[in-house]
Amino acid sequence: MIDIHCHILDGVDDGSYCLAESVEMAKIAVESGTRLIVATPHANTPDGDKNVWGSMLVNKLATLNRQLKAENVPLTVCAGQEVFSAGDVVSLLRSGAVITLNSTRYLLIEFDFYERTDAIIDRCETLLAVGIVPVIAHPERYEALKEDEQTAFSLKRRGCLLQINSGSLFGAFGRTAQNVAHDFLSESLADFVASDAHSPYVRTPYLADAHEMVSEMYSLDYADMLFRVNPGLLIRDKEIRGLY
Ligand SMILES: [Fe+2]
Repeated sequence: MIDIHCHILDGVDDGSYCLAESVEMAKIAVESGTRLIVATPHANTPDGDKNVWGSMLVNKLATLNRQLKAENVPLTVCAGQEVFSAGDVVSLLRSGAVITLNSTRYLLIEFDFYERTDAIIDRCETLLAVGIVPVIAHPERYEALKEDEQTAFSLKRRGCLLQINSGSLFGAFGRTAQNVAHDFLSESLADFVASDAHSPYVRTPYLADAHEMVSEMYSLDYADMLFRVNPGLLIRDKEIRGLY
């Protein structure tokens, strides 16, 4: 499996606290069948983590990959960010202050949990207009998408992709987010499931149980699409055609 949303870089946000913790997270990922993780530290967060892309993050990534090799952990970590939608994200991308997932057309983007529907759609359209495909992080956690399922259909029609958190499928973010996540799966609106892991203890990168749940409740093909096929296409910057 490939995990496209994971706070595995240490000391840069509310994710991994230190290098040893990052290695623990990597071992948990490997144990669950993951071989590639896109590191997605929070970036461009108002009053929070800015994490401008540059040598600090590049060095963290290189150090982690070196340590994994030294400890024979069969996992590769590549570059990405979880970019908060605020200000002029297109300019930030053009200047290199924020980056897409593994230098592809796909940008992992998050919104304020109370962002209005029209603002979410406007901001996604601005990105799509310049060839960036928004991969919306945990849509099941936003009020606008919880309240009206049509918002998800509107986003999908425009070309956005939806990334569900594995924890949401088990109710880690409340009953409503759980129901909405399963609605998205039932309606074939989901494009990815990822861990959004923050530590080796809670919100971990263990994906095998979520893959098993999706296989049993929906189908093995669908589970493979969400955890393997679509993330694999994303990493190689190939086109992803959702089921919807
Ligand atoms: Fe995240």
